[in-house]
Amino acid sequence: MFTRQFNSTFFKLNEVNKPYYVTTPIFYVNAAPHVGHLHSMVLADTIKRWNGFLSVTNTPAYLTTGTDEHGLKVQQASANAGVETKAFVDNASKTFKILADKAHISYDRFIRTTDDDHIEASRQLWKILQTNGYIYKGQHSGWYSVSDETFYPETQIEKKKLEDGSDQYISIETGKTVEWSSEENYFFALSKIQPQLLDHIEKNKRFIFPQKRYEQILREVKEGLSDLSISRPKSRCSWGIPVPGAEDVQVMYVWLDALTNYLTSAGFPNLKPNSPWPANVHVIGKDIIRFHAIYWPAFLLAAGLPLPDHIVAHSHWTMKGSKMSKSLGNVVDPVQTLNTFGVDSVKFFLMNDSFLSRDSDYSNDRIIHRHNTELVNKYGNLVVRVCGKAFNIPRSISSDSKIFRNESLIHQINDLPEKVATHMKNFNTAQALSDIWSLISSANTYVQESEPWTLKSNIEKQDAIIKDVSEAARVSSILLNSFIPEISSAMLDRLEVSKDKRNILFASYGTDTSYGKNANRKGDYPIKSIETD
Ligand code: MSP
Repeated sequence: MFTRQFNSTFFKLNEVNKPYYVTTPIFYVNAAPHVGHLHSMVLADTIKRWNGFLSVTNTPAYLTTGTDEHGLKVQQASANAGVETKAFVDNASKTFKILADKAHISYDRFIRTTDDDHIEASRQLWKILQTNGYIYKGQHSGWYSVSDETFYPETQIEKKKLEDGSDQYISIETGKTVEWSSEENYFFALSKIQPQLLDHIEKNKRFIFPQKRYEQILREVKEGLSDLSISRPKSRCSWGIPVPGAEDVQVMYVWLDALTNYLTSAGFPNLKPNSPWPANVHVIGKDIIRFHAIYWPAFLLAAGLPLPDHIVAHSHWTMKGSKMSKSLGNVVDPVQTLNTFGVDSVKFFLMNDSFLSRDSDYSNDRIIHRHNTELVNKYGNLVVRVCGKAFNIPRSISSDSKIFRNESLIHQINDLPEKVATHMKNFNTAQALSDIWSLISSANTYVQESEPWTLKSNIEKQDAIIKDVSEAARVSSILLNSFIPEISSAMLDRLEVSKDKRNILFASYGTDTSYGKNANRKGDYPIKSIETD
């Protein structure tokens, strides 16, 4: 049986008594939150909830999110707004916290890179890298993009002719303008750690998701890595963490500072045996893969710290095929979306209609369609059907008809948890949801075809049908709790499943024989359609 098999996997997973640790990227505070940011949060939250769900009898999972507040971009944005930089970031950071709260993201820490413990952690990491011989001073010249906060190698730059005939240089990857810049900086010896990094990536095929990104990074690391400038002259950017030993002249490169947030949230530099580090999953967008899959593990290896298990890079949301961006004016305001359609319906759309390996088009119509057809007409309908006044759930679930059992539906119910677990191991939320909906559809079809309301004179058969269908609704709802917590809880409430029987141990057929006491008397509908004109 799944539960037993699952338990053995589970105990293996949690041998080390540490929480399953999931992170979102920390968000730049120089622009307002958009639906792409919400997507990173929701994916991380779903992964956290699912793994917490799996470890029901053990350590809970741990999730962090927050804001990335240092760097030239922020310094410039606050200057443009005519606001003192700290006041500017305080205000901007709040908008992301509001979004996380509004979307019911179950974060355990909202980290800000201006937090004291983070500044301390970043300086500590720097000192360790220095002691270990990975930091040196040098002259740095190269193509720098203010907007991307990074230097690009010559091979990643292309020349563009402007309308006035002048030349502009841009980064091929991001399309952002770059300028030639020369300065004295500290460097990280990325080339020295390259063999170790390559070895780690080659040995850990599940280090980077999806597969095509794994291959892309493997190729890049194989080609060889140049050393990385990890500080900026204070004269150019003063809004950053001072470099230990050079406090008056240099600040840390914003990506080194930002990436360290994942350690800060885990308690670094005071990591204990049950601290969350190493992270199990860093959820990121595809645009920041190099920073997470090359620089970050390189820093960690050089510092002698354990590496995260998985880096999961999701794709982007587009609008009618083009990238969502502020300059195109096609950015979707996530708070407004959540207000209009409801938290779980937006989550349901994001986790259903997105893929790690290709971009997806955002559409309000699609949110409404998913809500009305799948959540209301299929899932809601299934729950409401078994709660019909003509049936009796408590009597049905304690009956045990050998003749009228629907073996194929029972198999589908019992196979489902493991299927979902496998998809979630591959961070494939869309496939996990699709398998849950296959069960919901099978159960609906079974009710439709067997017409239990016509079986008043064959109660044994009616009860057997209602038992199998109720079990499909109950087990689906338990499994849906990580994806659509509010809606699935409302359904479990409607089925009168007791709160302590909503965990993985009850996610198989026949494991709960005590629900539904008044379910067939109430007649209310736990979910409503979204009206369209
Ligand atoms: N501050 C850095 C991350 C540092 S992590 C140590 C950053 N911030 S960001 O605000 O620009 O982006 C945060 C996340 O939002 C990224 O994962 C990015 O991929 C994601 N998205 C931004 N636009 C997006 C879409 N249009 N669609 C989906 N996600 C996208 O990068």
